[in-house]
Amino acid sequence: MKVFTTKEALREYILPLKQSGKKTGFVPTMGALHDGHLALVKNSVENNDITVVSIFVNPTQFDNPDDLKKYPRDLETDIALLQTISPDILVFAPDAYNFYDGRIASQSFDFDGLEQVMEGKHRPGHFDGVGTVVKKLFEIVQPDTAYFGEKDFQQLQIIKKLVQKFSLPIQIVPVPIYRAADGLAMSSRNKRLTPMHRAAAPFIYQVLRQVSLLSQSQSFDKVRGFVTNVIAAHPLLELEYFEIANEDSLQSAKEKIAGNKYRGFIVVYAGDVRLIDNIEL
Ligand code: PAF
Repeated sequence: MKVFTTKEALREYILPLKQSGKKTGFVPTMGALHDGHLALVKNSVENNDITVVSIFVNPTQFDNPDDLKKYPRDLETDIALLQTISPDILVFAPDAYNFYDGRIASQSFDFDGLEQVMEGKHRPGHFDGVGTVVKKLFEIVQPDTAYFGEKDFQQLQIIKKLVQKFSLPIQIVPVPIYRAADGLAMSSRNKRLTPMHRAAAPFIYQVLRQVSLLSQSQSFDKVRGFVTNVIAAHPLLELEYFEIANEDSLQSAKEKIAGNKYRGFIVVYAGDVRLIDNIEL
């Protein structure tokens, strides 16, 4: 397995391959790989000649320094996991200094309001950080196709907007949320859950399934009230927000309008671990 730690070395290696017409798939990650990431990587390996996986805990997208410090990192295990999919995967694991040319800072983006709600509101600067790192990664890897999980649905819509705004010739492929058998959405942060909080966390998806059922017959406001009450009554979980929003605009929805698509978005703390999930309604 080839592991590149500088953007110059990766560029030098992939440029001739691209020039010879090889199709490149790209999976950007922050490492601590789980089955959700591996589903994205398998998708890329099956549909491209080359797959590049980046493993980079991007400092500019963390609004909380403690979260950045505690973010799980295990490059050796990540490489071993990727090896089980294909030894030909190219891993890009730069350090922040090389990646950002010594100046670790975000660029400012206007994503037409997609960045101002939900995660954008609760994690100031987060989507500037995501936009900055993904745009730079796209410039380095120049993929034909890039794969993003629907767990971070707002991020996925923002990446589509980034590609559109900068006219990047990259196809964005959304991949459905990968869940553990008990329903918990796969996340690198799950590794940090205590056994007690891990046992409690599948409740989040149970609530989302109820949301999906209730929203067929009840107003969105009633459904919001249901979620607030049911999580408030749980001894181990704390709700940061629950929102029902239009899938395209991500703006909060008051009522269902025929022809539009909606999703329920939730963020819950299980102890000090912030868990995010969503469901199509
Ligand atoms: O979803 C993630 O893991 C990150 O936000 C991403 C897209 C790799 C950018 O750092």
